[in-house]
Amino acid sequence: MSDLIQTTSRDGVTTIRMNRADKKNAINREMYRAMTDALAEASADPAIRAVVFAGVPGAFSAGNDIKDFMAIAEGGALPGEVATFLPAIASFDKPLVAAVDGLAIGIGTTLLMHCDLAFASPGSLFKTPFLDLGVTPEAASSLIAPRMMGDQRAFALLVLGDGFDAAAARAAGLIYKVTEDPEAEAAKAAASLAKKPPEALRIARDLLRGRREDVLKRMDEEMQIFSARLRSTEARAAFAAFLNR
Ligand code: COA
Repeated sequence: MSDLIQTTSRDGVTTIRMNRADKKNAINREMYRAMTDALAEASADPAIRAVVFAGVPGAFSAGNDIKDFMAIAEGGALPGEVATFLPAIASFDKPLVAAVDGLAIGIGTTLLMHCDLAFASPGSLFKTPFLDLGVTPEAASSLIAPRMMGDQRAFALLVLGDGFDAAAARAAGLIYKVTEDPEAEAAKAAASLAKKPPEALRIARDLLRGRREDVLKRMDEEMQIFSARLRSTEARAAFAAFLNR
């Protein structure tokens, strides 16, 4: 297990913490792999009834590691880690709860679209600068966000690249509650879910989430487009600009 992901399991709840504070929790390949493994373990363990995603103070995640993007842009092979992680969260079979403090950029925001409940501190920022990086929406956000928040807000978030503060994210349905202590609230919600009859919980969750096929299909389509975009001149220039700041 990677040091950059800390997994703890207690009282029926697994907490997956992104722990790369010096890089504002930019997610690298090793972290995707560790989170996918943690989800698989939580899914396989009948004693685990809910999962919480958390970050470090001030950073839930600054999004995908741009160095890893650059490696692909420069001709490196497409790594499988993201392509495995995304379907794993979309088809995860137990409640997913998120505790956001601070930055939620790129996948830090689109990951929340797969969570059943998300709590965020008042100073949090939700932003997906895909276009400015020469890339396109991922994680089935192009399908889920318009349904969740309406076409124009989804466009502002995913295409215009507007940042949403916590109040705007709540109004858009991206998060459930704004709170001074998102981790405590997330832990409380997860603990409460862990005490519900598991069969009824699974059925109710499936009913609310609906069929996943369309989400997985869109994810796959977006992934193919995103992969091609990573190698575009526009993306290479944007990655270089960030890395050479
Ligand atoms: N990939 C790789 N490294 C990243 C990163 C990312 N997505 N986000 C932050 N970092 C690194 C920075 O390069 C810096 O590293 P250094 O100390 O070795 O120079 C460190 O994390 C701290 O970031 P910094 O930019 O100094 O912090 P900040 O508070 O001024 O700004 C952000 C934070 C998130 C606004 C800014 O880092 C940023 O815009 N990151 C890119 C976000 C992004 O585009 N993600 C991809 C979305 S698809």
